[in-house]
Amino acid sequence: MKLWGGRFQKNTDRLLDDFHSSISFDQRLYKYDITGSIAHAKMLARVGVISDREAEQIVAGLKAILADIEAGSVEFDVAFEDIHMNVEQLLIQRIGDVGKKLHTARSRNDQVALDIRMFMKDEIKQIQQLLKELRETLLNIAEQNKDTVMPGYTHLQRAQPVTLAHHLLAYVQMFERDSERLQDCYKRTDVMPLGSGALAGTTFPLDRQFVARELGFSKISENSMDAVSDRDFAVEFCSAAALIMMHLSRFCEEIILWSSAEFSFIELDDSYSTGSSIMPQKKNPDPAELIRGKSGRVYGDLMTLLTMLKGLPMAYNKDMQEDKEALFDAVDTVKKCLMVFKPMVATMKVKKENMAAAAGGGFTNATDLADYLVQKGVPFRRAHEIVGRAVLYCIQRGKTLAEMSLAEYRELHPGIEEDVYTAISVEQCVRARKVAGAPAPEAVQAAIDAARSRL
Ligand code: ARG
Repeated sequence: MKLWGGRFQKNTDRLLDDFHSSISFDQRLYKYDITGSIAHAKMLARVGVISDREAEQIVAGLKAILADIEAGSVEFDVAFEDIHMNVEQLLIQRIGDVGKKLHTARSRNDQVALDIRMFMKDEIKQIQQLLKELRETLLNIAEQNKDTVMPGYTHLQRAQPVTLAHHLLAYVQMFERDSERLQDCYKRTDVMPLGSGALAGTTFPLDRQFVARELGFSKISENSMDAVSDRDFAVEFCSAAALIMMHLSRFCEEIILWSSAEFSFIELDDSYSTGSSIMPQKKNPDPAELIRGKSGRVYGDLMTLLTMLKGLPMAYNKDMQEDKEALFDAVDTVKKCLMVFKPMVATMKVKKENMAAAAGGGFTNATDLADYLVQKGVPFRRAHEIVGRAVLYCIQRGKTLAEMSLAEYRELHPGIEEDVYTAISVEQCVRARKVAGAPAPEAVQAAIDAARSRL
């Protein structure tokens, strides 16, 4: 018989058992479910709802179930719907009637909210750790590439020279914000809902603070209806996860472009590339493409949660069981992508000469020539126009600004002197950009040091 079978005269249809059960996916919450139940049983004894002896039996029974699940010797049953009732049923089978006291002053509605929150707290910490390791890796590569000049782009057209270090630091910023967002989400996840019952609390004098302390929560929920119907923390997590995936995906897009023959800025290690079944020459950046592709799943997970929740009246509704697969998928996808991404960038070969050559073409030093004229007293807008004409002149003759003779420069503006050539060398263009947050090696070193100290 079902644990809730008392008011029913017929069994549920087999099809419905399958349809409404969540055990196939929520079994991964078993450890949190049992740990939560142990704290609940201890608290029931503490406030005198059950005896100490009964609590001891329940706790011992639950610990044995945990060990057996971990050893792989427990078979869950769809007839018991979810992890909560499977564990409770196992307990009753093993310790008899005392086991029937565990669910006093509790509902699966506050129980599932507790389990997911405990799960999310662990996962958030793990993802923050992965983000930290990725930031460390990027900072190490940056440290070695403070002088690796490359073109910076806008509109994917060469714009101004930067360095690879500076480019990577942009991503360090993104991943730092991602970690902050997770921290913020953690604060709202770290709220203990047990004691809210089905929706209206309980008539028993529970010590909710005790349960919160036992389970390492910093506070207890303040409204029983909110506590069982709130999945904001899951939405917030998926939103933070979607941003992480968006950042990874943009980075992957660059890795894919950079490994093409047309850019040839990097080469992925053989251990992070794959071949083609027909074209023998191919070496493809598949892991980067897969991460880019998987961003869609996580956006989908966020949309799943928002859509599932939008029409729900207070308080718990069974729709909410649909939260778990989306949440698990977002957690698993983000973790896997971060795990693959880090070694992929750590092992990639940087082709410094090609980056430098690309930075030297495309007139990336045109702004610097204009800045040079400004130093000679020419108003910027006028300098812009003069340099624009110089660029056109060069394009028509197939040369670069550095290849113009001093005589040609003097035609443009009589104030131009020999020192123009140093001023517009790409190395100097980078070195001169010393303002805080800019690509000059000293500014980049300061940014690296600051980012490291925040790690
Ligand atoms: N399996 C359910 C879920 O994941 C647990 C709560 C069920 N509560 C209920 N009243 N049906 O949401």
